Amino acid sequence: MAGAQNLAENILAAAEVRQASMRRLSELDWDFPTQASESAFSALHWHPCRFPSQIPAISIARLTTPNDVVLDPFMGSATTLVEAQRLGRRAIGVDVNPVSALMGKAKTLQSTGPAVERYFRSIQLMIRGEWSELPEAAPPETVQAAKWYSERTLQGICKIWGVLSQDQSDLAIIGKAAFSSILLPACRETRHWGYVCDNSQPKSDREVEVAPLFEAALSKFVAAYRQRDMECSQPLPDARVINGTSGDVLSTLPDSTIQCVVTSPPYFGVADYAKSQRLSMEWFSLPIEPVRLQEIGARSKRHRITSLDDYIADLQKVFVQVRRVMKSSGTAVIVFGQSPARGDSEKRFVEMLKDVGFSIELERRRQIPKARRQKPSLLEEIVIIGSKG
Ligand SMILES: C[S@@+](CC[C@H](N)C(=O)[O-])C[C@H]1O[C@@H](n2cnc3c(N)ncnc32)[C@H](O)[C@@H]1O
Repeated sequence: MAGAQNLAENILAAAEVRQASMRRLSELDWDFPTQASESAFSALHWHPCRFPSQIPAISIARLTTPNDVVLDPFMGSATTLVEAQRLGRRAIGVDVNPVSALMGKAKTLQSTGPAVERYFRSIQLMIRGEWSELPEAAPPETVQAAKWYSERTLQGICKIWGVLSQDQSDLAIIGKAAFSSILLPACRETRHWGYVCDNSQPKSDREVEVAPLFEAALSKFVAAYRQRDMECSQPLPDARVINGTSGDVLSTLPDSTIQCVVTSPPYFGVADYAKSQRLSMEWFSLPIEPVRLQEIGARSKRHRITSLDDYIADLQKVFVQVRRVMKSSGTAVIVFGQSPARGDSEKRFVEMLKDVGFSIELERRRQIPKARRQKPSLLEEIVIIGSKG
């Protein structure tokens, strides 16, 4: 009898906590226009559609308790995973793009700031001490070297590549992610990343000092890990990074295990994520085409007559799985952006969520800051908070 009463009281208490959380989320200004409270991990590697770290930070803090599992089926630059781990929640992130997997792994290591700093110093010693004598490792054949890099910049990149090719450290993945992050600022394309995405010939012959650029990229990792040390106690919960399509990967996860999903599905017809990481894909000899073909909503598929239907159908397959893996008390926070030029994908998306059984508890519009806009037309997104229904 007392047991049943306790259970009822616990259920009531949980319902009250959830109501209070939803109220706080409904009062929130979701715009986060400044970078003032952004995580230091967000600036480590460029991604075309990263969302502000405050979105997963606030959602996870309000909707989960320590050790719960948080999922992002469209992980991108792993913003959700970083925040989940920082808040003591276990995390699973999935992305079809191997460069996203690289970012996710490099940002969620169990290592501490001092360990990352020791790694940074060991690389710095090699680069600073012997720069003129460092051998240049030839770029892989997949790199369009003369097209993307001026001669001197390429020499510098090849020296760093040589150092990293010998790197046996446990933290080598940080070196690889830092290397990946400098390719865009080092390349000859100075107009907009979209030209790299489209494989257009650069118009400038920009030369870049590669060693300081790479050192700065590595030192940002040190700063991010040091900041994390100050905010969290070790050991941190695990963050699992899975490279694959979310439809396939989610079908392997057990039912009712995820407390919170925080995600931003690929926009419809706006970005080609694999092509946007072309420079890294080339350097790591990762073929772009097979990834592009598996991308949901890829810009390069936008001219098909059925493209919007295909997009919604592809997302539906994923969100059926998302709902299945969520606990009955679980919540999904979904940031959805649409280009007005591409038909009403937002309305169709919300209808689809309801069709697969989600109950929509909150919808809030948020403005996209200028620096993050894919196109001038993409001014706002919608934040949808749904429960399993
Ligand atoms: C809007 S971005 C997510 C950005 C992320 N919220 C962040 O902060 O970086 C969407 C991501 O979905 C990924 N994606 C597209 N199609 C996918 C698929 N079929 N399976 C898994 N990931 C996919 C893209 O590679 C891209 O990284």
